[in-house]
Amino acid sequence: MKTQLFTNTPENIIKTAEILKKGGLAAIPTETVYGLAADALNGEAVAKIFAAKGRPMDNPLIVHVAEFEDIERFALVREIPEAAKKLAKVFWPGPLTIIMKKGGVIPDEVSAGLDTVAIRLPSHPSARAIIKAADTPLAAPSANLSGSPSPTTAQHVMNDMDGKIDAVFDGGACGVGVESTVITLAEDTPRLLRPGKVTLEELREVLGEVELDSAVLNKLKDGQKAASPGMKYKHYAPKANVILLKCTDDEFTDYVNRCGGSGVAALCCDEDVEKLCVKYISLGKRNDYEAHAQRLFDSLRRIDGYGNIVTVYTRLPSTDGVGLAVYNRLIRAAGFEVIDLEKS
Ligand code: TXA
Ligand code: MG
Repeated sequence: MKTQLFTNTPENIIKTAEILKKGGLAAIPTETVYGLAADALNGEAVAKIFAAKGRPMDNPLIVHVAEFEDIERFALVREIPEAAKKLAKVFWPGPLTIIMKKGGVIPDEVSAGLDTVAIRLPSHPSARAIIKAADTPLAAPSANLSGSPSPTTAQHVMNDMDGKIDAVFDGGACGVGVESTVITLAEDTPRLLRPGKVTLEELREVLGEVELDSAVLNKLKDGQKAASPGMKYKHYAPKANVILLKCTDDEFTDYVNRCGGSGVAALCCDEDVEKLCVKYISLGKRNDYEAHAQRLFDSLRRIDGYGNIVTVYTRLPSTDGVGLAVYNRLIRAAGFEVIDLEKS
């Protein structure tokens, strides 16, 4: 299949929407990462997403709408909980996904057999324009091959999906850089399943009690069921081995320089750069967690682009604010291995 690469024009919004209405696949920009979209109400179209990504069929998809009213208009959920209305007022349009009990129109391909559905109202103008023009909700996981870092540019999508999907709409680089925060309201107490730009602290300000799912920070134990099926897979990993170091700033640069060699790279902060003798990519200033999130996936892909990097060292991130999202992605990229230099 020839994959068309569309520039950001009103005509191409319409062309993308037409592909989607006909049951095709198109990658679309959102403020978090690029999504691989299909008509969420068309099970056959949605099934193609899993084939293109190589995604396990038991991993459900997020349904994207252009307006809050679309949730009722398309009867996507059984009922909208009060807590969802409160969250929507503060965080939508934006990088928050809310899980609710699903309505009967949701195909099994979307919900992977669960009785819930994840809904998001993105803020990216092109995403909303495409959903509006298609006049149907869009199911869209991140537009990467399953297991590799999520795409934050149209070029990343082309690298993974060229020849596998109908079109890629180029809306520029994504501003947030990590996927949306996922919260479930389908149980008694709201629970954060995946951290993102909308932080745990911010969710608690609106809802009061919000639990943190144990899979956000920890590896699932053998046999433990994942509340969010995506959490059980090794994710976000570049081809190079990611190793997380728990250490002081001086220990970090000293350790990486000692490991040095052509196959080694550091994923570091601006403040480290002068002290490093190995290849590096900086995520930004040390305490600028939003910059780290924005650059994370692009940096992981660039490290693979060097071709010869076997090991990439980085610090164990802070879990404060948006730091928690970076921590959650990196600990998975590293297969939960952390070297604690403070103990050794
Ligand atoms: O920012 C984002 O959320 C991007 C853009 C494209 O919107 N999408 C995205 O989708 O990251 P995906 O499929 O890569 O991640 C969705 C996550 C997965 O971990 C999945 O298991 C979880 O949300 N999820 C989806 N529906 C769910 C449900 N009904 N119950 C529990 N978890 C669900
Ligand atoms: Mg994904």
